[in-house]
Amino acid sequence: MVKKKNDDRKKMALRDQMNIVVAGHVDHGKSTVIGRLMADTGSLPEGKLEQVREMCERNARPFEYAFLLDALKNEQAQGITIDTARCFFRTERRNYIINDAPGHIEFLKNMITGAARAECALLVIDADEGIQENSRRHGYMISMLGIRQIAVLINKMDLKDYDEAVFDEISKGYSCFLGRLDVHPTCFIPVSARDGENIATRSDRMSWYHGPTVLEQVDAFEKPASSAESIFRMPVQDIYKFTQAEDDRRIIAGTIESGRISPGDDVTFYPSGKSTSVACIEGFNTAQRSSVESPWATGFTMETQIYIKPGELMCRTDDPSPVIGRRFRANMFWLGRLPMVQGKHYKLKIGAAHVSAQLADVISVLDASDLKTVEGKTEIERHDVAECVIELSHPVAFDTRSLNEETSRFVIVDEYEIAGAGIIFEPVGEENSLLRGDIRQRESQWETSLISSTERTDRYGHGGMLVVFVGRFRSGKRNLAKHVERVL
Ligand code: GTP
Ligand code: MG
Repeated sequence: MVKKKNDDRKKMALRDQMNIVVAGHVDHGKSTVIGRLMADTGSLPEGKLEQVREMCERNARPFEYAFLLDALKNEQAQGITIDTARCFFRTERRNYIINDAPGHIEFLKNMITGAARAECALLVIDADEGIQENSRRHGYMISMLGIRQIAVLINKMDLKDYDEAVFDEISKGYSCFLGRLDVHPTCFIPVSARDGENIATRSDRMSWYHGPTVLEQVDAFEKPASSAESIFRMPVQDIYKFTQAEDDRRIIAGTIESGRISPGDDVTFYPSGKSTSVACIEGFNTAQRSSVESPWATGFTMETQIYIKPGELMCRTDDPSPVIGRRFRANMFWLGRLPMVQGKHYKLKIGAAHVSAQLADVISVLDASDLKTVEGKTEIERHDVAECVIELSHPVAFDTRSLNEETSRFVIVDEYEIAGAGIIFEPVGEENSLLRGDIRQRESQWETSLISSTERTDRYGHGGMLVVFVGRFRSGKRNLAKHVERVL
């Protein structure tokens, strides 16, 4: 019995798996859709549904599918699962991991930090309330994150007597909005999550609808092949040194963001530019592998000993190299309680690199809930989407969105909280950089002394003179200059 259970578990773990994010305005029915998907596919732990129904009866509350998630979360909170925002369901075709984010801040944070990189999205809109602010914002975020497989669920059709005209009107309006973002949903599905209409089984109350059910649609989504097949990128998270006798391996570890690599491949680390080749793919308690690809977390030993720091970007030498720079133009979504302002230092995280960052310039600001451009802003307020220039305290390696989306994303941390997230479009030159400005100001604004030059000449008995010491780097100019001054 136990063996069969273990075998079943192993089989499940080997199955294809897909990440789904469910987004939408408050109360439009996200959790109910998820609860339904889990219940109707028989993916709930045994007895869970009955247990929650009983609990509702005991407390004289109407049963809600959304309560299933709370019940599971309570269980998970006792230490069984690491991430409480995740639920699972399975179909004939594969296993699904759903991310139910309570609010859009959590949603965006999870998505950007990679805690939940979704491959497809279900956008839920309440048929009775219609398109709301967050319906649009989430649409925008999904487009920004590059999720291309989207199904829009027009939910609570029961409240609108399953009226086709209501469905058509909302679909048309939302389609128009997404079109401006160049986002084209795969389909619009009229559903009643509460009653399970068109979720796992076809509704006979909406015979006018001929498209897929939600379950049919998610099973029809394809796993995007892109990230493992594109250029190789791995932010270096850590370097482990083994110091036991005979074992002097240095293992360079991280999570592969994109691409694939094999022993023998030449690699270069940026920004240091150090090159070597992969000797071996290291894993804990795993068999030797002949290649490894995204999204694996892994480690490598190198042919030659090179010294690099965590935060560098490991690339294949024959792939296009990343940009090494301090300034870039990006699209950024701001979620911080305080606006993002110029002159303040923030922390920017990209890949495994952490660096101090400033807002150098605001090019334009967009309200993601209606896509209107706001002119003349110099700071970025909560919920704003801004095209802006960010300047870092020192150079890091990054890619532009057009080369590799995975390594063009960053987050901004303000007061220990993720406050913004963005995607890099292009590097920007140093011409108008804040650092240059500081230097220029220091050079041009000499402080005037209270002692006049004649007073100084009288005191010293001679006039002033500028002496320039020139010579090779580190040839001792500074020391020599100081000694000459002392002798004089
Ligand atoms: P937040 O997590 O708070 O943003 O809400 P949510 O989007 O997860 O919504 P939830 O699933 O909790 O549902 C909100 C309310 O809408 C609940 O009272 C549900 O019972 C109700 N609801 C969900 N789906 C339907 C539906 O198809 N028809 C009707 N009539 N009510 C529904
Ligand atoms: Mg919810």
